[in-house]
Amino acid sequence: MGETVTARRQDAADRHQPPVLAGIDHVEWWVGNARAFSAFLASAFGFEFVAYAGPETGRRDRVSYVLEQGEVRFLVTGALTPDSPIAEHVRAHGDGVRDVCFRVDDAAAAFEAAVARGGLPERPPATDADEDGEIHHAAIRTYGETVHTFLDRSGYGGPFAPGFVPAALTAPAGPAVGLTRYDHIVGNVEKGRLDDWVEYYCRVLGFDPLVHFDDEQISTQYSALMSTVVWNHDSVVLPINEPAEGLRKSQIEEYLDYYRSPGVQHIALRTADIVATVRALRDRGVRFLTVPPEYYEDARERMAGVDLPWADLQELGILVDRDRDGHLLQIFTENVCDRPTVFFEIIQREGATGFGAGNFKALFEAIERAQAARGNL
Ligand code: FE2
Repeated sequence: MGETVTARRQDAADRHQPPVLAGIDHVEWWVGNARAFSAFLASAFGFEFVAYAGPETGRRDRVSYVLEQGEVRFLVTGALTPDSPIAEHVRAHGDGVRDVCFRVDDAAAAFEAAVARGGLPERPPATDADEDGEIHHAAIRTYGETVHTFLDRSGYGGPFAPGFVPAALTAPAGPAVGLTRYDHIVGNVEKGRLDDWVEYYCRVLGFDPLVHFDDEQISTQYSALMSTVVWNHDSVVLPINEPAEGLRKSQIEEYLDYYRSPGVQHIALRTADIVATVRALRDRGVRFLTVPPEYYEDARERMAGVDLPWADLQELGILVDRDRDGHLLQIFTENVCDRPTVFFEIIQREGATGFGAGNFKALFEAIERAQAARGNL
């Protein structure tokens, strides 16, 4: 790159403050069967159907279901034609996360600032309108085929966006799950690219690194990974993983092999009462990674002085960790798609701001047992 071009880019970056993100508006999944995947989120995870768009509402190429629980909102989209980009995405990646959408005050300004700061453009600013008002949106690219939409919905009063109607489906009855909000959303990137993507978020969106875990901290007998968490100093927390050299195939490599590109690995959702949440999810048929009983002997020592419902935690397989600020409880579901790619984490924070580093080894050994069962370790 010539010096003049570099200098010009630097000027542009200096002129543009990074976009201010008000939080995660929703996560969009592109899947092979939106009707079935949204029904799974409703029946197994307790999400409520909120809105729908499809041929009945004038959309000819796709159907979308909007589901909500607490402040967590999912948009589940499927293709109606074989030449659709959604069908192509599903063919390449299987079911997965296409868009982690940020809420902003001014979508065009956010896009312009992000692109001036080196963001890769995906969709230029556009406005959609109907009798309930208008939304403004634009998108940049991130790792793999994943995108970040900037969305301003402040001028819209309908159920989700123009083209959507209130959902005609009701979720099946089941125990209340109690998920409240997004905690963090994790991406897996190619080996050797972690630092590039950390730099991308810092430069383009003005994020900062929050914490880094090297392969010494995140390794088992067989495999290793490295991870850096970037965040906007508020509610948007995005850890990024890359595989590291190990004796056998890293779980991140298994993901990359099956997803066929970088992409979202897990979505961590917050609850105020993880015992009740996990009990409800188990009753609804959700399956979780398990830890051996010895985990709890070690955990009781690590958590000395913290009053915890040990019998419930052990019965349900909930993991615990502490840092200087408090403690946290967490658990990981099995993969929720056919390919061994995406899963959910359920997390309850009691002051702790970390990510369960004390559990990494137990967790990764559990993942490796599942990986071995798939013949991929
Ligand atoms: Fe996590």
